[in-house]
Amino acid sequence: MKPEGLSVVLTGAAGGIGSALAAVLARAGARVLLVGRRGAPLAALAESLGAGVRTLRVQALAADITTAAGRATIRDIAAARGCNALINCAALPGFGRFADADDGEIDAVLRTNLVAPIQLTLALLPQLQAQRQARVLNIGSATGRLGVPGFAVYGAGKFGLRGFSEALRRELADTPVRVQYLGARATRTGFNDRRADEFNRRTRTAVDAPEVVARAALALLRSGGAEKFVGFPESVAVRLNGLAPTLLDRAFAAHRAALRPAASGASIDPSTTESQHV
Ligand SMILES: NC(=O)c1ccc[n+]([C@@H]2O[C@H](COP(=O)([O-])OP(=O)(O)OC[C@H]3O[C@@H](n4cnc5c(N)ncnc54)[C@H](OP(=O)(O)O)[C@@H]3O)[C@@H](O)[C@H]2O)c1
Repeated sequence: MKPEGLSVVLTGAAGGIGSALAAVLARAGARVLLVGRRGAPLAALAESLGAGVRTLRVQALAADITTAAGRATIRDIAAARGCNALINCAALPGFGRFADADDGEIDAVLRTNLVAPIQLTLALLPQLQAQRQARVLNIGSATGRLGVPGFAVYGAGKFGLRGFSEALRRELADTPVRVQYLGARATRTGFNDRRADEFNRRTRTAVDAPEVVARAALALLRSGGAEKFVGFPESVAVRLNGLAPTLLDRAFAAHRAALRPAASGASIDPSTTESQHV
């Protein structure tokens, strides 16, 4: 689809990747509904993208995707705007040793990163199916196809989102709705806290600028491709892992070491309650 023909609902719009994506979309001529829970950063982003002068091209909407009321509001405004694309980008981080996780964090991560995007897709489906062409683009992660120590719960959500994307893509293959999955690798945003940054450094994980992910997302929307993983070697590793998962089991000693509190040094406090991720 050409960007100028897109009318997008973008969740997580004020985040690091979301705001880069909103800018790329707006510059390319797409109409964008910016969704997040906090109104102030969304309004500032809308303003910076010219909402004041180009009314309705860019619009901010404060709504929580984990609530039925939030999703109903998004659905109604999306319909009024003639939306033909949903980008599920909102997520919570979830980095750390699984032994340190708690039930509340597990619930919140899976509800926000997996259940809510599925429910929002369902809420918007009639609107999308009524279009000549439409897109559902789910923003995932390399950890959604390659299990990485430190990302057991977060990765479970992204694996789930990828499975949902694949099944729904096949289910809707003879409809106007194309379902897509973009697997980002580590990206420089507020999503990663100090511990996650340190983990990436110790494991020599490459970290992209959010604009790299935004450009990849726009290219995917244009091409209609099924899925794309950003970056080398991640894009190869996820495919290899798909073919022979146990082959890579021995490749994560550095990741395990970086998770160990004793080995991680004074800069990593295992008692922290901050939640993180990829
Ligand atoms: N950064 C990375 O290293 C990385 C790597 C791979 C994949 N990803 C994926 O890329 C996407 C964007 O990540 P990011 O780095 O841009 O994260 P981010 O900067 O933390 O942005 C996430 C956004 O999601 C919004 N959000 C969270 N819960 C929400 C809810 N219940 N309802 C509505 N909005 C909600 C937040 O805004 P409010 O708090 O205002 O709601 C926030 O702006 C995520 O799907 C993430 O999993 C990120």
